[in-house]
Amino acid sequence: MSKVAVVTGATSGIGYAVTELLLKEKINVIALSRDEDKANITKEKLKEFTKDVELDFIIGDLSDNEQATETSKKFVKLIQDKYKGKLDILMNIAGRVTTGYHENKDGNELTFAVNHLSIFILTYYLTPLLKKSDDPRVLVVSSLSHYRASINWDNIQSKNMYNILKSYKRSKLYNVFFVKEYARRFESIPIFAIDPGLVRTNIGAKNTSGLARIAWKLRSSTGTNIYYPARFMIDVSTKEAYKALSGNYIKKGKPVKSNPVTYNADHGRRLWEYTEELTHISLNNQ
Ligand SMILES: NC(=O)c1ccc[n+]([C@@H]2O[C@H](COP(=O)([O-])OP(=O)(O)OC[C@H]3O[C@@H](n4cnc5c(N)ncnc54)[C@H](OP(=O)(O)O)[C@@H]3O)[C@@H](O)[C@H]2O)c1
Repeated sequence: MSKVAVVTGATSGIGYAVTELLLKEKINVIALSRDEDKANITKEKLKEFTKDVELDFIIGDLSDNEQATETSKKFVKLIQDKYKGKLDILMNIAGRVTTGYHENKDGNELTFAVNHLSIFILTYYLTPLLKKSDDPRVLVVSSLSHYRASINWDNIQSKNMYNILKSYKRSKLYNVFFVKEYARRFESIPIFAIDPGLVRTNIGAKNTSGLARIAWKLRSSTGTNIYYPARFMIDVSTKEAYKALSGNYIKKGKPVKSNPVTYNADHGRRLWEYTEELTHISLNNQ
């Protein structure tokens, strides 16, 4: 049976390009969209690549614990019904950047919830299915901006003195901590933090103020197209050579040093435990 991949954030930007390239590699994709219309438009755009490979959409949101859990369970059910419960690749790509402080219904800051907590929840539900693959891989899209973030145990969610960039880059720092801690706990499932570089997408124009939108438009105009990171993400998720690099931060397809603080395993474990408390789940190797 050909491989199966889950892709979040598949209706636009990097996630869209990754979906297209996975299909071209003849890997079946189960993609996430928040919206039925966006899913249908994406399916139509990718129709020519689905002649002998499947593209399914789960409609769901990752904004709070309940929705992320519901979404995860939909993925599990489809993979069980259609692919005998085996998943090969998990691409955690969905993310947001947010002007102004917003809390979800769990009382968690929204960017933190989508960019960090939901990845923990989805990966929790999909890990048993990844264990059934003989070549599983998990990718988490972090960001160059994580180098400019620090960990502050008194303000993990940026609830005090919220700032759009501070919250975003911290969430991307937590992605790297998550990858390193998961690699320590799940040795049989290679996992990677991906630095896509600066990419021309609309992420900075979706949940942001006019000023932030203008700044993003100017900045992102110097970025690469969406296929640049997508290509090396396909390599990371399929090529044999990457298997031995679990836990690494991958930039332009190569492992590079991440922010020095991400090598502090005590911080990694503490963040993991804090995340378990907030999500009410225990992600352990059993
Ligand atoms: N572009 C860059 O230069 C850059 C650099 C470093 C890292 N990244 C990271 O790359 C990833 C992809 O971003 P992108 O640049 O490709 O932007 P994008 O086109 O806006 O992609 C983000 C995707 O995440 C989805 N999403 C957002 N909130 C969600 C939620 N609550 N539930 C489910 N899906 C949700 C979006 O869906 P909707 O369209 O419905 O909102 C969208 O499909 C993000 O994690 C981002 O942080 C991007």
